[in-house]
Amino acid sequence: MAQFALPKNSKIKTGQLTDASDGAKNSKIFKVYRYDPETGENPRWDKYKIDLSKCGPMMLDAIIYIKDKVDSTLTFRRSCREGICGSCAMNIDGTNTLACLKAIDDVKGDVQISPLPHMPVVKDLVPDVNHVYAQYASIEPWLKTDSPTPTKERLQSSHDAQLLNGADGHGPAMCILCFCCSTSCPSYWWNGDKFLGPAILLQAYRWITDTRDEATGERLDALEDPFKLYRCHTIMNCTNTCPKGLNPAKAIAEIKKQMITRQC
Ligand code: SF4
Ligand code: SF4
Ligand code: FES
Repeated sequence: MAQFALPKNSKIKTGQLTDASDGAKNSKIFKVYRYDPETGENPRWDKYKIDLSKCGPMMLDAIIYIKDKVDSTLTFRRSCREGICGSCAMNIDGTNTLACLKAIDDVKGDVQISPLPHMPVVKDLVPDVNHVYAQYASIEPWLKTDSPTPTKERLQSSHDAQLLNGADGHGPAMCILCFCCSTSCPSYWWNGDKFLGPAILLQAYRWITDTRDEATGERLDALEDPFKLYRCHTIMNCTNTCPKGLNPAKAIAEIKKQMITRQC
């Protein structure tokens, strides 16, 4: 019988525990994935015990505290700390989410933090997003028109704007491109080279559904492919995971529907 084993260099080793809690009662252990390809060493789990009364309430606060006060070599992305930029996306306690929106209190016991799954790792908690951004560029995410450019802006009715923003504020234009959804999608794990994945398909839908855009037929043509769109099997992990409460699975279903009913 065939036997499968991880390559030696992908086995995660046990790292070190740094106790920076000074014996505080209100302390917690953060188990963090560490990897630096330049060292040639395997990834490892380092643990940091910190005093929670010294940092803010969110997971990102704890990670920033660790970097500032305990271990400056820890590498991660973040910018807005408001759930807007999408850069602090990572896997926390087994779920892809935004570290700045996830409360420390939500996780009982130790917290395990690793990079978004199934993406190459640049360092520690930083995934390589070059491929997914190339896929984003491939859907041409800008307004395409043939009609003469108006002298003022292209106006849109509030009904049409709602198609983008959503009646409840959770429409496709609210996506922050954090990629929590794509990296939780089993189809994207296995076919990420050709399947566009939920984040990019939601963006494709955002332009298809924009009533100011005049390239709907061209956009649908570009998605008419066994892999780019149809590798979605409606598993719904994407929608369940989205930290902004968006519904990429529904957007994908809408594109499939438009493929059948299209008149352009
Ligand atoms: S619904 Fe489609 S895109 Fe979303 S997780 Fe499932 S297979 Fe992936
Ligand atoms: S749909 Fe949600 S999870 Fe996916 S990229 Fe957009 S904001 Fe992130
Ligand atoms: S830091 Fe911007 S979304 Fe978390």
